[in-house]
Amino acid sequence: MTADLFADQPRSPSRQALAEGAWVLQAFAQDRQQALLDEIEALLAQAPLRHLLTPSGHTMSVAMSNCGALGWVSDARGYRYDALDQLTGKPWPPMPALFERLALEAATAAGFEGFRPDACLINHYVPGAKLSLHQDRDERDRRQPIVSVSLGLPAVFQFGGLTRSGPLQRTRLESGDVVVWGGPSRLAYHGVAALAEGEHGLTGRCRYNLTFRRAG
Ligand code: SIN
Ligand code: FE2
Repeated sequence: MTADLFADQPRSPSRQALAEGAWVLQAFAQDRQQALLDEIEALLAQAPLRHLLTPSGHTMSVAMSNCGALGWVSDARGYRYDALDQLTGKPWPPMPALFERLALEAATAAGFEGFRPDACLINHYVPGAKLSLHQDRDERDRRQPIVSVSLGLPAVFQFGGLTRSGPLQRTRLESGDVVVWGGPSRLAYHGVAALAEGEHGLTGRCRYNLTFRRAG
């Protein structure tokens, strides 16, 4: 096990272009990590993490939950957004103001004005968990970007083009990094390589990812 000795060391914010309309905002959420994790803990007490089934019947290795008016779900019937959490029978918990503010600020920093997400997918990765290459295409409003926030253990983010077979860029995402993609990159294929073993100062042996979308 490799302890991440540098987890709490401040990094200077910087910006890296992945493609037209796609940016990695390094350390953008660095100053809010603990507050975000506190919110996540409160949200997961209301809408617990669960491993969803893909339409083809596989159990996803990433555990998920949601907050906001709409939540992304997957089961034998397909991928879709739903206002209710099937596990609890209740609406998803409201999106915390801190989340809305971060999503708006990150989108603005990447050149997308006025982003008002109505869905936030909460992804939880333990070592070995991965997300295979996919497009985010279940949202009705694709003029809005995707804003994706990393917390905890580092991950290798894979970012491709508009076809599954195109070349992939691989970027290491650290805790506090934010990726934004929209405009000509809105339907870019992306995924997360199997999480490496590790221990993070803020989250322990896991990574969280918050993915904000305008779904409805
Ligand atoms: C996603 O594509 O929904 C998640 C990406 C990530 O975990 O960084
Ligand atoms: Fe995605």
